[in-house]
Amino acid sequence: MDIIILGIESSCDDTSAAVIKNGVLLSNVVASQAVHEAYGGVVPELASRAHQQNIVPVVNEALKRANVTKEELSAVAFTRGPGLMGSLLVGVSFAKGFSRALNIPMIDVNHLNGHVLAHFIKEKDEDTDQPKFPFLCLLVSGGNSQIILVKAYNNMEVLGQTIDDAAGEAIDKCSKVMGLGYPGGPIIDKLARQGNPKAFTFNKPHIPGYNYSFSGLKTSFLYSLRNFLKEDSDFIQHHKNDLAASLEATIVEILMYKLRKVAKDYKINEVAVAGGVSANNGLRNAFREHAQKYGWKIYIPKFSYTTDNAAMIAITGYFKYLDKDFCPMELPAYSRVTI
Ligand code: KG4
Repeated sequence: MDIIILGIESSCDDTSAAVIKNGVLLSNVVASQAVHEAYGGVVPELASRAHQQNIVPVVNEALKRANVTKEELSAVAFTRGPGLMGSLLVGVSFAKGFSRALNIPMIDVNHLNGHVLAHFIKEKDEDTDQPKFPFLCLLVSGGNSQIILVKAYNNMEVLGQTIDDAAGEAIDKCSKVMGLGYPGGPIIDKLARQGNPKAFTFNKPHIPGYNYSFSGLKTSFLYSLRNFLKEDSDFIQHHKNDLAASLEATIVEILMYKLRKVAKDYKINEVAVAGGVSANNGLRNAFREHAQKYGWKIYIPKFSYTTDNAAMIAITGYFKYLDKDFCPMELPAYSRVTI
């Protein structure tokens, strides 16, 4: 019998629904919320309201594109957390209603697990290159920076993580003080391609072990800008490419340094990257260089699976379905959790 999973993602500011049949992706619809741009960051209450408006049309569209009816679904998988509570509640409540009305099981998915398992999304029924267990996954997004040891679909261990800001958060905050708009990641990425990564030097953390820290870099970026602006009020305008390139290079260097350390200590050369910041071209290039230099077998996701999407929730739901790992109706959402 076919296993058809509807996945729902609503943890932050993207409402998304996807359909996966026997492990193969049939549709992935994402409605992004432009309403936050004017505020320079996600406004939780506005995000919840937009999710409420989007969820029904997004699910209908995902089913339509997949050419699947509601009655054919085997289960509904949804992001339980971590994320913004109001946003999560929209997806969780929708999934509960859907599951009750159709009398099908519900599967709760950890958003971070979803980002990692995005590497197993198959678009056609053919063999795509997928990581072999155990592998390392660098998960870098607006809310997280973690090095994860992935032992199996359902067995992951966080070896290191940020003790303060996430990598994407640091990029977004620095870009905000440069007046570049929100979200800063894609803008910094674009400017960095035309800048000199060695033009400016910013602080790098010296914390032991496999953990990350980005708040020192952020502060040193802000202080440098303030000092430069005292001498030249148009400084940012004159140097935005170099500032972006130097900021990006520093963040990439910080990320890769700890990842190299883990890969060496654990003797693992299967290395994946996931999350919104994995769209960054500087980071992607660093992965390719490491593949050449250290013999890593690298896995870089398609751009559409880097930022939040329901395809990754549906594929995680598919693996949990095979394990009959369903959840009860009374399960609450959670805003904070690790893997
Ligand atoms: O995984 P994601 O979509 O969601 C959350 O963390 O909620 O990640 C979003 C983060 C933002 O910080 C955004 O600026 C960053 O990913 N990002 C990028 C790029 N595209 C998105 N950072 C650097 N370069 C990019 N091309």
